[in-house]
Amino acid sequence: MGLEPDIHAAQALLAWQVELGATEAICDAPVDRYGLTVPTARGQAAVAPAAPGPAAPPAIAEPDPVDMAEKAARAAGSLEALRAALEAFEWCDLKKGARTTVFSDGVPGARVMVIGEAPGRDEDREGRPFVGRAGQLLDRMLAPIGLSRAENVYIANVLPWRPPQNRDPRPDEIAMMKPFLAAHIRLAAPEVLVIMGNISCQALLGKKGITRLRGRWDQAVGKPALPTFHPAYLLRTPTAKREAWADMLALRARLGPA
Ligand code: URA
Repeated sequence: MGLEPDIHAAQALLAWQVELGATEAICDAPVDRYGLTVPTARGQAAVAPAAPGPAAPPAIAEPDPVDMAEKAARAAGSLEALRAALEAFEWCDLKKGARTTVFSDGVPGARVMVIGEAPGRDEDREGRPFVGRAGQLLDRMLAPIGLSRAENVYIANVLPWRPPQNRDPRPDEIAMMKPFLAAHIRLAAPEVLVIMGNISCQALLGKKGITRLRGRWDQAVGKPALPTFHPAYLLRTPTAKREAWADMLALRARLGPA
């Protein structure tokens, strides 16, 4: 093969450099700037300061995961579409460590929607919220007021993926999942929400301090919302069951006779 310049190869090389962001040619001949020396005030040689290179290509903005979540959640027109959107959402690292996407349980369209925090080990295995010990207690809290997931309650969590070692979700993870949760509530269209635990209150009410918040009706995503203790907390603190029972009675009173 000859060594004479190939105009097509040169053109291709130039196009490639432009694509990489080169915007102007500096010199006709290449300069080895590492080898350049300039005299200093004391007459010693010093390495020349680097000449300004070609202008840096414009930075490509990183997509904002909350924005992406909002777009995906807004586009979902049904609960099934929302589940599919969550399963396709790749911006939350929690998903990488989880076995399943825990979407919901119970009756879509029920008058009551319970919002928990995040799946634990049992939920992650089964792919359904509140199936472990806390879930069994939840069922026992609802039954005496005529409610059950088999008949008239819908259940979801703030986070659909189990956090590693059941750690608390970080604010950025909550912010990323909030648009999905809001869409979930909109599509499930319950009459009232029961918000269980501090993380859920933080996500839906923007407030912390469940001991102070519990038992007082509030508003979340345009729905009347009753904060109450999380069943996992009640398992650790049985003395708080008395207040949780008062909250269940307040819920029943709001719904009217069973
Ligand atoms: N705790 C929750 O908040 N949700 C679950 O699904 C299980 C335990």
